[in-house]
Amino acid sequence: MCGIVGYIGNNKAVPYLLNGLHKLEYRGYDSAGIAVAENGKIKVTKSAGRIANLEKKLQEKEPYTADVGIGHTRWATHGEPSDVNSHPHSSAGEKFCLVHNGIIENFQSLKASLEKEGVIFLSQTDTETAVALLEKNYSGDVILALSKTMKQLEGSFALAIICEDEPEKIFCARRSSPLVMGKSDEGNFIASDVTAMLKYTNNVYKLGDDEIAVVTKDSIDFYNINCKKLKKESEQISWSIEDAEKGGYDHFMLKEIMEQPKAVAETVLPRIKNRKEIVLDTVKLSEEELKNIDKIYIVACGSAYHVGVIGKYILEKMTRISAEADIASEFRYRNPILDEKKLVVIISQSGETADTLAALRLAKENGAKTLSIVNVVGSSIANESEAVLYTYAGPEIAVATTKAYSAQLSVIYLLSAFIAAKLGKLDKEGLEAFISDLENMPGQIQAVLESSFDEMEKLADLFLETEHAYFIGRNLDYAGAMEASLKMKEISYLHSEAYGAGELKHGTISLIEPKTVVVALCCNDEIFAKTISNIKEVRARGAAVIAVTTEKHKNEILDVDFVVSVPDARAELLPSLEVIPMQLLSYYTAKKRGCDIDKPRNLAKSVTVE
Ligand code: AGP
Repeated sequence: MCGIVGYIGNNKAVPYLLNGLHKLEYRGYDSAGIAVAENGKIKVTKSAGRIANLEKKLQEKEPYTADVGIGHTRWATHGEPSDVNSHPHSSAGEKFCLVHNGIIENFQSLKASLEKEGVIFLSQTDTETAVALLEKNYSGDVILALSKTMKQLEGSFALAIICEDEPEKIFCARRSSPLVMGKSDEGNFIASDVTAMLKYTNNVYKLGDDEIAVVTKDSIDFYNINCKKLKKESEQISWSIEDAEKGGYDHFMLKEIMEQPKAVAETVLPRIKNRKEIVLDTVKLSEEELKNIDKIYIVACGSAYHVGVIGKYILEKMTRISAEADIASEFRYRNPILDEKKLVVIISQSGETADTLAALRLAKENGAKTLSIVNVVGSSIANESEAVLYTYAGPEIAVATTKAYSAQLSVIYLLSAFIAAKLGKLDKEGLEAFISDLENMPGQIQAVLESSFDEMEKLADLFLETEHAYFIGRNLDYAGAMEASLKMKEISYLHSEAYGAGELKHGTISLIEPKTVVVALCCNDEIFAKTISNIKEVRARGAAVIAVTTEKHKNEILDVDFVVSVPDARAELLPSLEVIPMQLLSYYTAKKRGCDIDKPRNLAKSVTVE
């Protein structure tokens, strides 16, 4: 997710652009830049790093006096955070300058055909392809050129553009990624969200999908993708600036829980080709090299480790390669067996977790192949891994991970099917069926969000009278129970434990007494009956039981306090569905217990110390 701003009016543009970028810094902060139209030329200043770096660069040059400009703060998706990959991007002929938020899914093919026509690209970004295409399509009418360009782009985009030939205008276009415009006494604004302009106006226009806007000092005109003029009413925004940053949600965590369908879709869909092939172009392991792998370690911390446990079950089941999940702080000190026959998969949202980075270095020192699943482009773990599979969850602000966790899971599914297909463990039909189920996942996650949202708020009351909770399950449900338990602990400060449902009777069941809350995850078909037996064991000791299962089994679970159901899905994908009600349950429990949900006590978003 990136932040776009624009200003056009009777005052100098730069102060407005920088104020807007600071307000949008929460959307992405690994590089920033601005462009202005001044004396018939487009001038650009941009820099890797925080907005402060950009401001320093601006102070070192002749101040811009322009009254029109665009700005961008970046959350890198294609191309590491660097000066050259920062936005704005200019077309080769410098006729156009553009900023972009979103992912252009067909940029490689577009870029290849433009390069064949002699276009030279400076950056690794998908964005530069859009501005090059715009210049190619331009023959004097910017709106027409923009319309043509939009029809050639696939994926999501919010674009703001200035053109040397029409310096008194800002051109905007949008598909899926948000873009709003506002009028004020100080001039007219555009931005990714209202946060950037609330200081000047709360009267905004929302650009619709496949629509174009042309903003001047005195007007804002709207067109559809076929250049037909549209009439649009403005909306009154009553949010405070802080509300706006959270998109109207009470907490970043809830906003990020609700963003999970998009995070999974943007992580999975660009890696599926023609609905029959998984393309992981950064995984360079040949079939021979994969055949030579005799063990896969999945190493991470916290929630990322729980993804690793799920990955262990799925990779081992689908690829028939021995797999093991390790907590990074244990892995690095237990002298693991590492050599060129080992594949070490590192998982980290931040890409900066000290123990996880140390585990990666240990793996590399001992000749193992390394692959990381990371959400922050250009982070230490991403830069030091042989191969990186990025999650495209966007910036995750809440300390408790949700959308990054779900995006990491979806990469595990892609990787498992990719390796299984390469090793002949998944035939053509099997792969196509798996891909079809993957494509349905964002919609199923959305369905679970809608069905469990209110239920979980009510169920949270069960956790207000207890100080202990147990999350139990078997196989993938046990791994899911680990994440469910951690979510509850870290934001509601309620003690909880995840336990293998079949293991309880070996000691811990002595703790179960009347009113103890037990959440039993029993989505896994194969061992459903076994987990039901364990539910009966804790019920016999007076526990209050919440069962989480699939539509298929929901009416088979009797004598529990509540049944939460998720859609039927392929066994390997169920962890992505069962975690959703668990996230919401933890969220509402913490909210009712008056905890600081986005910044829980004692925690940090990235643990960069051992
Ligand atoms: C998860 O909600 C926690 N914030 C924490 O366990 C986190 O998953 C862990 O610290 C790993 O962080 P990373 O993914 O950035 O490496």
